[in-house]
Amino acid sequence: MHVGVIGAGYVGLVTGTCFAEMGNDVTIMDVDETRIQSLIDGRIPIYEPGLEPMIARNVAEKRLHFTTDLEYTIERSLINFIAVGTPPDDNGAADLKYVFEVARSIGKTMTTYKIVVTKSTVPVGTTQKVKAIIAQETQHPFDVASNPEFLKEGNAIDDCMKPDRVVMGVDDVRVGEILKELYSPFVRTGKPILIMDIASSEMTKYAANGLLATKISFINELSRLCERVGADVEMVRIGIGSDQRIGPQFLFPGLGYGGSCFPKDVDALTRTAVEKEIPLTILEAVQAANKGQRQHFIRKILNHYGEHGLRDKLFALWGLSFKPRTDDIREAPALDVIRTLLDKGARVRAFDPVAMENAGRLLGDSIEYAVGNYECLEGADALIIVTEWNVFRYPDFDKIKELLTEPVIFDGRNLYEPKKMLERGFTYYCIGR
Ligand SMILES: NC(=O)c1ccc[n+]([C@@H]2O[C@H](COP(=O)([O-])OP(=O)(O)OC[C@H]3O[C@@H](n4cnc5c(N)ncnc54)[C@H](O)[C@@H]3O)[C@@H](O)[C@H]2O)c1
Repeated sequence: MHVGVIGAGYVGLVTGTCFAEMGNDVTIMDVDETRIQSLIDGRIPIYEPGLEPMIARNVAEKRLHFTTDLEYTIERSLINFIAVGTPPDDNGAADLKYVFEVARSIGKTMTTYKIVVTKSTVPVGTTQKVKAIIAQETQHPFDVASNPEFLKEGNAIDDCMKPDRVVMGVDDVRVGEILKELYSPFVRTGKPILIMDIASSEMTKYAANGLLATKISFINELSRLCERVGADVEMVRIGIGSDQRIGPQFLFPGLGYGGSCFPKDVDALTRTAVEKEIPLTILEAVQAANKGQRQHFIRKILNHYGEHGLRDKLFALWGLSFKPRTDDIREAPALDVIRTLLDKGARVRAFDPVAMENAGRLLGDSIEYAVGNYECLEGADALIIVTEWNVFRYPDFDKIKELLTEPVIFDGRNLYEPKKMLERGFTYYCIGR
């Protein structure tokens, strides 16, 4: 099939490449010329494990094309996915200007029948608005559909090639059949393609992220109570996660959720709910718990040094990305931790295996950047662990002790055993234990 993907971000690049991998002819279009030029030159603008060789292979086999030309993309593609960003606007609602901009351009450029699919995460009603916008611009026939994306950065290729399910919202069964054909190679193990109405499909994406965020906030809030009553949240996590009705995923206590999806999607959904006068009080509490969790962790640092004791301290910080295996720092907990430390007059030296460049663009020279995790520690007063990259799991503790001026670790991800850390001679702060 001929597929167009508009937006060459985390979602557009990964899904477009996976469609090409299945033999489709795919054109990925973006307005960002630098991004498209780097893709044409063989440089991948995001870090996503496994993506680079897959792009190279499909480009070499001439199934995958990159362009800034929307007209060219639409002309050669029957199915066109809108995969542009939907960042929060000033009020926290999803900003749909990029989606609508693309819809208008599609309407203006199309000359034959097209299927236009919203893959971006969009509030209920958006795909119908896309339909209305295109209809204003064209006399040619077209259909719209909703096909939200559930991939996780860091595991995106696998999530895309072997999804738990594919959700599709259509208002014409024939469109459903065409999209089903496109997706059938991805669900050969029997995973379902769920075809539903467009509004339910749009809502499913928000509901999924809302529930996952709820699990994270639940365990985080519980971790604070565990600390107070002398329970170990890691034991509690395993205790509840082994119940099949609950499941072990998204129950790791830490610094709260971040990234480009959960914060903005939970925010957008709660705002829609307030507008419609059906407030989602559970999700409002989830957001408050998430904010509180970061403050709770920061409070541990403040308590250790005293409210005014951070001035001129140097902190080594491991992990900048919002989670491991991605270079994405959008809404990363590290940013809140860093900002507070800097506000209090401390210095920060950070290390991250892949997110240094993105962090550098945002934070400039307000912090120092280390070339490795041990270099990061030299002469620092304490180590703060923010992202649970594998490389941080089994470090050389003797070396850490040697390099820090004092053996103090604030671990926001519960990477180590508190008892062992005590034996190793560390003052060790973690979450909920
Ligand atoms: N990142 C994730 O893990 C993830 C997962 C599931 C769903 N989503 C959703 O998918 C959507 C895209 O997310 P992302 O993380 O890929 O975003 P992103 O910010 O990485 O990429 C968006 C891209 O769209 C491009 N763009 C903006 N306006 C354009 C236009 N008019 N024409 C062509 N391109 C344009 C931008 O230049 C950018 O490259 C969002 O709605 C997001 O919520 C993201």
